[in-house]
Amino acid sequence: MPTLMVTGGCGFIGSNFIRLILANQPGLAVVNLDKLTYAGNPENLAEIADDSRYIFCQGDIADRSLVDSLLVEHRIEAIVNFAAESHVDRSLLDSSPFVQTNIVGTQVLIDAARAASVRRFVQVSTDEVYGSLGSTGAFTESTPLAPNSPYSASKAAADLLVRAAVHSHGFPGVITRCSNNYGRFQFPEKLIPLFISNALDHQPLPVYGTGENVRDWIHVDDHCRGIAAALRDGDVGEVYNFGGNAEMSNIDLTRKLLGLLDRPESLIRFVPDRPGHDQRYAIDCSKAESELGWSPEIGFGEGLSVTVAWYLANTDWVERIRSGEYREFYKQQYGERLGDG
Ligand code: NAD
Ligand code: DAU
Repeated sequence: MPTLMVTGGCGFIGSNFIRLILANQPGLAVVNLDKLTYAGNPENLAEIADDSRYIFCQGDIADRSLVDSLLVEHRIEAIVNFAAESHVDRSLLDSSPFVQTNIVGTQVLIDAARAASVRRFVQVSTDEVYGSLGSTGAFTESTPLAPNSPYSASKAAADLLVRAAVHSHGFPGVITRCSNNYGRFQFPEKLIPLFISNALDHQPLPVYGTGENVRDWIHVDDHCRGIAAALRDGDVGEVYNFGGNAEMSNIDLTRKLLGLLDRPESLIRFVPDRPGHDQRYAIDCSKAESELGWSPEIGFGEGLSVTVAWYLANTDWVERIRSGEYREFYKQQYGERLGDG
């Protein structure tokens, strides 16, 4: 059976992507290579763990001999690389795992994929590689790279390594760049699940700066459909932007969440700004629309309500995460222990 390797498949987007592929492509098997860092959670894939088309391997994308052996053993035809350190705030506290996984790990995958003649490699990247926008305009695929955090710099470096392999070796690489995802199974360090979880616990919602920074929000299912389209129909060496056409300031989003959860605005706490905080992201995804036949289908209002309902129904999943290593990070990031608010 044709087999796809997905890296980082126990994280937020990777786990949603594997579920989508197994549901929609009955003739395809998936090998999930995931190191299970703090963000990797096998519970995210519990419902498909016994599927005979799903194989899990705990390991590091930077481990060349492991990657080589998996590619040969499972005759991998294509790789989708989600594996990454993904949180901007953590990259500002300690950039070393970002350099190791996002840059070194991606190069190891490229080298191993070339050696095994893998037919397609999709690098899952981010709109953050383009830097920050003022109040107008949108990122296109030809916007110059100008990353502003260690996280986005490491993702831009990975994109450039893929680009160089395409240019020098005819490597079958495709790059996707997406805006802010939300949806089920998102680790509660990111804005939407953090604020939902804190509000449910009657804890303060720490809004950075004045809350006027703007993000474009896309439901994770729309992003996953875009990646599947790029895997199937994307041209080698090309970049495809995905976005949700749903720009919103952080403070407006915070108020919207409090409304959905029936919690008071007195829970909002303005805290010191993120260093180097990008002001605004907006995505022009007309290339993906015209060349891949893709467009976002889930409106932000609908997607946010469904996401809030999922977190309300899965408080045990959140609580298991918030009881572990997460408490140390929270104290370091926000200067107070979770539960002290
Ligand atoms: P996540 O932090 O939820 O998951 C990352 C996964 O990668 C985890 O399962 C982790 O265990 C695994 N991993 C980390 N280091 C690894 C290593 N060395 N080897 C193997 N596995 C490793 O991240 P996410 O939000 O699901 O993001 C997935 C990808 O999508 C990332 O590459 C990210 O840059 C990109 N992306 C994310 C967003 C977003 O809004 N979350 C938007 C655009 C692009
Ligand atoms: O744009 C795509 C990127 O979106 C992805 O590449 C990243 O992996 C993903 O983490 C996300 O990055 P952001 O930094 O935009 O997401 P985050 O959820 O951390 O923050 C969203 C906005 O909310 C941002 O302006 C910072 C702000 N924020 C965030 C947190 C965690 C707060 O005001 N308070 C907070 O506590």
